[in-house]
Amino acid sequence: MKISSILSSGFVIASALQFVAAYPGSGVALTPRKTSILINPAAQPDLPTAAQAQAAASAASLNLDDIQGDILIGMKKNQELFFFFSITNSTLFKQKLKSDIKVRVTTTTQLLSVSSQPTTALNVAFSQQGLNALGVTDDLGDPLFTAGQEADASVLGDPGTTNWVPSFVGKQIHGVFLLASDTTSNLNSFLSDLNAILQGAIQEVYSLNGAARPGDQQGHEHFGFLDGISQPAVTGFNTPLPGQELVAPGVILVGEDSDPVATRPTWAKDGSFLAFRQLSQKVPEFEKFLTDNPIIEDGLTPAQGSALLGARLVGRWKSGAPVDLAPKFDDPVLAADPTRNNNFTFAHPGQNILNDQTNCPFTAHIRKTKPRADFPTPNPGNHIIRAGIPYGPEVGPAEAASNTTVTERGLAFVAYQSDISNGFHFLQHTWANNVGFFFNKNQTQPGWDPLIGANGGQPRWALGLDQTNFDRNITLENDFIVSRGGEYFFSPSLSALSGALSA
Ligand code: HEM
Repeated sequence: MKISSILSSGFVIASALQFVAAYPGSGVALTPRKTSILINPAAQPDLPTAAQAQAAASAASLNLDDIQGDILIGMKKNQELFFFFSITNSTLFKQKLKSDIKVRVTTTTQLLSVSSQPTTALNVAFSQQGLNALGVTDDLGDPLFTAGQEADASVLGDPGTTNWVPSFVGKQIHGVFLLASDTTSNLNSFLSDLNAILQGAIQEVYSLNGAARPGDQQGHEHFGFLDGISQPAVTGFNTPLPGQELVAPGVILVGEDSDPVATRPTWAKDGSFLAFRQLSQKVPEFEKFLTDNPIIEDGLTPAQGSALLGARLVGRWKSGAPVDLAPKFDDPVLAADPTRNNNFTFAHPGQNILNDQTNCPFTAHIRKTKPRADFPTPNPGNHIIRAGIPYGPEVGPAEAASNTTVTERGLAFVAYQSDISNGFHFLQHTWANNVGFFFNKNQTQPGWDPLIGANGGQPRWALGLDQTNFDRNITLENDFIVSRGGEYFFSPSLSALSGALSA
């Protein structure tokens, strides 16, 4: 084999007998990985193997080597750094994007096997301001992206930008690098390489470090609930498990089958819109609320009543078991079984789905953001792939004792979709914040999603949380999740990066 073909197949010869992985086509050496960048708690569905994904992709004519790795993989990273930047020299940046950056951007295929994962995975996405800075004048066909998230703040339920991280205000951010690995030292050393490559081309605006929580909390968000259980399966990528919805690739990827927007620039194909939100979580305050408001039911201790209230707010127990299948007590065995933990519809024989909330409240977070049999016919359009990660430290003893957050922590929320107004924006605005949703129930106003529903910082309420009295109105005086802002980005295909977005 010639050295040139070895280079293009992703390997370079380090010595006569030893092969070392390289960024594909670059000749830049990499140390082969032995452990994965990704986490895999039992309750989260496994990703397809590279071979399975390849077979599905060929059948659907999807090119997983051209799609950035974060988009279809979901919430599974060990460590992640979000590096928000502005472009200071667009000619230099474009040149680097086409060469040194493009070869370092990690594809979907690469992430699926430990042996092909780089030491640190890299993805990149641009805001409309970033595309403007690069001279890309094509209209991507998504008005929310074009306007930017700041213009959407009040519609999303934020009290304007009062609580926003200042860097998200004023359209300063042109793009974001997403670096993922399993150690912070890997992230830091990759970041210094990136800064060296892009010296003179970009400037850091802001950065945020995310990490899977430690020990048995790995995969759980800061309130303690396992996250990343229910994601749509995507035709051309993975096969649905029982209860998992299969969506057309164009729901997530631009230009693919069922993309709701008819006309897109050719280069945008296989990109996806990334909605980023820094959502701070008031963990001690949330725990205090649960302690103060246990569901009083025969046979439950106050602690069990508090755990039940928490489970009914979310729609799942902290273990991940759905309340629809485990309505009174947690069921860790059910939780850990991905073939069962998503296999429910909110419909039960002998219960009227229009008025019965015995198993799951209408307002529970997972029911508001993904109604199942609540829709008489399947809803093909309003789906996202969630790829967020917790940020900030664990709750300290002083915070727990005082029931007061001192140090910010939360979820670096990332959602991918082909159309923000059908995806993240729709779920937040039209469902979570809409007191009238779900429609056609006996309660005309079931209330807010008690977790993420936002009322401009004003108090919220929800019915149905107490299964002993569906009409009990529980007031939520303060938000447990406070938006610190964010931005809308476009995560292009690798071929679009090679052509530096074809402008
Ligand atoms: C700090 C903020 C948030 C927290 C703590 C949180 C927590 C959770 C948890 C624990 C689950 C259940 C586990 C799972 O199925 O993966 C879940 C599911 C989900 N969340 Fe969130 N979430 C947050 C923000 C959001 C936002 C902003 C949206 C969209 C607007 C959203 C949309 C969803 C969706 C679509 C599901 C899956 C529902 C299903 O298919 O059953 N989440 N979230």
